[in-house]
Amino acid sequence: MKQQIIPTVKDIKNLKGKRVVLRLDFNVPIKNGKIVETMRIDRAMPTVEYLVKKKARVIILSHIGKDASSSLMPVVQYLNKNMKVGFVPNFRTESAHAVVDGLAEGGVVVFENLRIDTREEENDPAFAKFLASFGDVYVNDAFAVSHRAHASVVGITKYLPSYIGFLVADEIKHLSLALKPKHPFLFILGGAKFETKMPLMKKFMKIADYVFAGGVLANDFFHDGGIEIGKSFVDKYNFKLTPLLKKGKVILPTDVVVKNEGDKKSSVKHLNEILPEDNIVDVGPETIKNLTLILKKTKLVVWNGPLGYYEEGFDKGTTALLRSITESRATSIIGGGDTAVIVEKLGIEKKLSFVSTGGGATLDYLADGKLPGIEAIMKCKKR
Ligand code: 3PG
Repeated sequence: MKQQIIPTVKDIKNLKGKRVVLRLDFNVPIKNGKIVETMRIDRAMPTVEYLVKKKARVIILSHIGKDASSSLMPVVQYLNKNMKVGFVPNFRTESAHAVVDGLAEGGVVVFENLRIDTREEENDPAFAKFLASFGDVYVNDAFAVSHRAHASVVGITKYLPSYIGFLVADEIKHLSLALKPKHPFLFILGGAKFETKMPLMKKFMKIADYVFAGGVLANDFFHDGGIEIGKSFVDKYNFKLTPLLKKGKVILPTDVVVKNEGDKKSSVKHLNEILPEDNIVDVGPETIKNLTLILKKTKLVVWNGPLGYYEEGFDKGTTALLRSITESRATSIIGGGDTAVIVEKLGIEKKLSFVSTGGGATLDYLADGKLPGIEAIMKCKKR
């Protein structure tokens, strides 16, 4: 997918007074009414600010959470720290049209969580048409949900001239580097669910020079190869992994961190030292050292998924490798989700070439080179 052939927000003529339906992904974690992680919101702001500067009237749509149970109110409160933003709690009543009609040039409103209406996820045409009725043009700057064929992502592009925002353009520009990579290219895959990562594994076995598997994925490889991993978690999968090892590209941890129930401290073990009662929780220092050596000759590194149980505090391996990457000369692209959370926590985002805001969307884009939401913009006949 070539970025230059996708029309962006900059291609919209005469924005002054225009009603812009702007789909963003404000699906951020909230605890006790407070936003835990604001990266997705912050990264969407350049498009909002551009539209405001051009005196467009901006109607922001987003989902939050899996269903109707979460509200975007905390996000609206956060946005109001920097700019005046209105909130439409029930966008399905007539008053919503009145609010939008009364919106001043350069004004911004946020509609409540789209998933309060089940027709959003069903990509219902009537619902898509209803959302479109609030605008003159549509902009998708919600990269993280662009893998979903939902009404506000795909359906709506049938009814309005459609464009992408700055964040989506930036995501495509950087993630597509992984599809036509500079070599040597190191691909790092961690996390827990092999099933969702297998397409990536297969794809990058073909285009990367080295593929490092950490996290539960490494356990799966060890288990499949008959190596003792004790009580460590293994994902359920129904494919054979050892043939992948024969291709000579897969690198696995040579040492791991083990912590068993009742243990006060964790310990580092080589693979041949693992006992039946052991529980692997992270990769070990020797593994990081080996990867750092590979990094020295790497031109591109793409990483998705933590290497240990970082939620339980076992983030040393991930943290150490991230630091090695920031010290290397390689172009670095970090897939979203959990890995991005760690980057944010360490405050090293600026030292990396790019950190994606997507979770599932990043995985799908890397695996397929396209996403339904972006394809829909490209195919839009209303422009
Ligand atoms: C995400 O967090 O990956 C996106 O916001 C999409 O959310 P979903 O997986 O609930 O569709």
